[in-house]
Amino acid sequence: MSFANSFLFPNTAEASGQGHLVLGGCDVTHLAAEFGTPLYVYDEATLRDRCREFLGEFQRRYPKSAVIYACKAFINTSLARLFREEGLGLDVVSGGELAVAQRVAFPPERIYFHGNNKSREELEMALDCRIGRVVVDNFHELALLGRLASHRGVVQDVLIRVSPGIDPHTHAYTTTGVLDSKFGFPIQTGQAKEAVGKAMRERGVRVVGLHFHLGSPIFEMEPFARAMELTLDFASQEGLPLREISPGGGFAIAYTRDQRPPSVGEYAQAITASLESRCRALGLEPPLLVIEPGRAIVGPAGVALYRVGASKDIPGVRRYVAVDGGMGDNIRPALYGSQYEAVVANKMGVEEGERVTIAGRFCESGDVLLRDVTLPRLEAGDLLAIPAAGAYAPAMASNYNLAPRPAIVMVADGQARLIRRRETYQDLMSNDLL
Ligand code: LLP
Repeated sequence: MSFANSFLFPNTAEASGQGHLVLGGCDVTHLAAEFGTPLYVYDEATLRDRCREFLGEFQRRYPKSAVIYACKAFINTSLARLFREEGLGLDVVSGGELAVAQRVAFPPERIYFHGNNKSREELEMALDCRIGRVVVDNFHELALLGRLASHRGVVQDVLIRVSPGIDPHTHAYTTTGVLDSKFGFPIQTGQAKEAVGKAMRERGVRVVGLHFHLGSPIFEMEPFARAMELTLDFASQEGLPLREISPGGGFAIAYTRDQRPPSVGEYAQAITASLESRCRALGLEPPLLVIEPGRAIVGPAGVALYRVGASKDIPGVRRYVAVDGGMGDNIRPALYGSQYEAVVANKMGVEEGERVTIAGRFCESGDVLLRDVTLPRLEAGDLLAIPAAGAYAPAMASNYNLAPRPAIVMVADGQARLIRRRETYQDLMSNDLL
């Protein structure tokens, strides 16, 4: 049985005859009973489907395309293995993410190392594992990497991250490709030119291309196309032998029923068309195109499950209904004002009857997951499911209030596999020294 808003949920989502939400063939009320709540459920079919869609839509239009998954959206060993199987590469931003990749023997040549302040230890770790690319963000890193690589007698392939000065019109906290940003070398100021010149003279590195990332999520095509053209113009002016170009990630997904993000095909069309036409105009050999989706791969595959507990009616004001998670496992509403939708996973098909505000369990008034949503009448013990929760929720989770971080399961064909166990109180104290 399908249901309203089902397009926000993973591909396998359905409602059972009993009115329960089913994901990957698993009744979520059973998952909650077995694994506890809050629980993050990832649908394997959706994850694989999103990987194939990105590869297919880009390579169909532009065969020299590679897709590297942006681990910051959420990574663990199970997911890293799945991405390896699907033929993706990885964008890592820390030694921790690189360690996860190493744990599953991810081919190092398919790993790109990002970040605006990579430490010496992290760069050494990258050189040690013979990482595919380091995406150089600033002069300090360029000099440090050059020194470390020369010292080892190796030459590290790098992309230079430029900042094209294009506003993608998204949240200020997640806007990166504008002049006033901590990331990359601005083209406007001449610093990108200087960086390319320095990098070409640096013995320890070989410049294979350019990278830019505008922000996230981006609902418009124009910024991608404009930034692509500007960056290609820059490469051409500098006489840079451009073997690779990366427009980063930032592909939008729907969080709420009124959002209609572009399809993967639409992004692919805008990016590959601007790349091809500008290369032709400039007489450049078409480079490898490297895209870095994070949110658009894991976001739609993940659903957060919470158990409803206390509620508070303020006559004439609102009814707060509290769940057993909140900003500790999903800080996005508190941090960015992000909006979500919810369903009552044990009352699918029951008519929506009341307007409520879903509060989290953390000790802050700002810990509200959903404001003024209309849902079936909620009672303690009900199970609330929030779709499109797979990206940047578990990844940004904390132990605020010393709440253990949730368990995570992967569902497929009626089977649920625990891919991260729930933290225990013991875990919370395991680094404390008396
Ligand atoms: N590449 C680079 C260089 C990035 O900085 C990012 C995201 C991506 C790729 C992947 O972007 P995506 O495809 O996932 O949109 N915490 C925020 C999002 C921060 C994005 C940081 N960089 C959120 O919860 O919305």
